[in-house]
Amino acid sequence: LALAACGGNSGNEKKSGDDYTADNPLIIKFSHVTAPDSVKGKAANYFADLVKEKTDGKVKVEVYPSSQLYGDADELDALVSGNVHMIAPSVTKMVKIDPRWQYVDMPYLFKDEEHVQKFFDSELAQELFNSKQLAANDIKGMAFWPNGFKHFSNNKRPLVKPEDFKGLKFRTQAGQVLEAQFEALGAGSATISFGETYAALQQGTVDGAENPFNNFDTMKFYEVQKYLSTTQHGRLDYAIFVNKSFWESMPEDLRVLVEEALDEATKYAQKLAAEENQKSFEKIKSLGTVEVYEMTDEEREALKKALQPVYDQFEDVITKELIDGINALAE
Ligand code: LMR
Repeated sequence: LALAACGGNSGNEKKSGDDYTADNPLIIKFSHVTAPDSVKGKAANYFADLVKEKTDGKVKVEVYPSSQLYGDADELDALVSGNVHMIAPSVTKMVKIDPRWQYVDMPYLFKDEEHVQKFFDSELAQELFNSKQLAANDIKGMAFWPNGFKHFSNNKRPLVKPEDFKGLKFRTQAGQVLEAQFEALGAGSATISFGETYAALQQGTVDGAENPFNNFDTMKFYEVQKYLSTTQHGRLDYAIFVNKSFWESMPEDLRVLVEEALDEATKYAQKLAAEENQKSFEKIKSLGTVEVYEMTDEEREALKKALQPVYDQFEDVITKELIDGINALAE
C-alpha cells in the first residue's frame, strides 16, 4: 500500500537491478530538516554521492534538506505512508511512536562522544530498532548518526546557575522529557518545528533554545540569540529510518550496495560531527554577536542536580533497563 504513494517508483514489479539504468533510476527520496552544510546535510549528500557511484547511477538518492519537502511535524508520517523512503530525524522526534527514544534528552546521561558511540554500537540501540512499534509502523531502523551535545542559549541573560532559567521560555523539539527539563528549571517551553525556530526566536515567541553548536551556526541562530552557555546538558543525535516495504521491494543487488554506502556514510558522519561542531563553536565565539559563557564542571554539576527530577519522572517511561544500560556503557 505504501508503495502506491511513491509515484514514479515502480520498484515492486522490477525485481532485478538490471531493470534500472542511470536514465531510469530507482529513486530514494531522503527528507531532512537541517541545512545542506550542517552535519546531517553533509552526511546525507555524501551518502547520495556514494550510492550513485556504487550503483553506476541505477539508484538515485534525492536529498531534500531544510524541511523543503517535509518538516518535523510530518516527515515521520510521510515515511510511514511511503511518500518519502528515508529520513534522519533527531531521535527525540520518534517519541510519537515509542517514548523510549527520549533517552537522548535525559540530562547529562552521556559523558562524551565515545560514550555515545558505544551506545550506538550496543544491543540496547539495536533493541530500539527491533521494537514492535517500528515494525507496526512499517519502519526499519538502519543506522545512528551523531550530531553533538546541546547547549542552552537565550536573549535575556547569561545562563549559568539553575535560577537563571526562571521565567524564560524555550523552544523544544518534541516530547515531555524536554518539557519537564525546563519545568525543573522553573522555565516554560513550547514545541516549535526546527524550520520555524529562527522566526520564533526573532519574534520573541520564545526567549531561548538548545542546540549543538553546528545547528546553532548553520541555522544562523547567532543572529537571533544573545547568550550561549556551554551547558552540554543533553544530546542531539540521529537515526536513519527507511520505509520497510519500500526497502524490501528493492532488488537485492542494489539494496546491498545502498547498505554499503550507508555504512560508509555513517563512518563519515561519526568523524564529521565532532569536527564540525568544534569549527562552529570557534566561529560563534569569533562572531562577537553572541556572548559565549564557558561553563565550569562545578556549574554543570549544579545544573545536573537541578535536573534530577526529570529522572524521577521519566525513569519508567524511558525504562530503567535503558537508562542503567547506557550508564553502564560509560564504565
Ligand atoms: C531540532 O529540531 O532541533 C533538530 O531536530 C534539528 C536536527 O538537527 O534535525
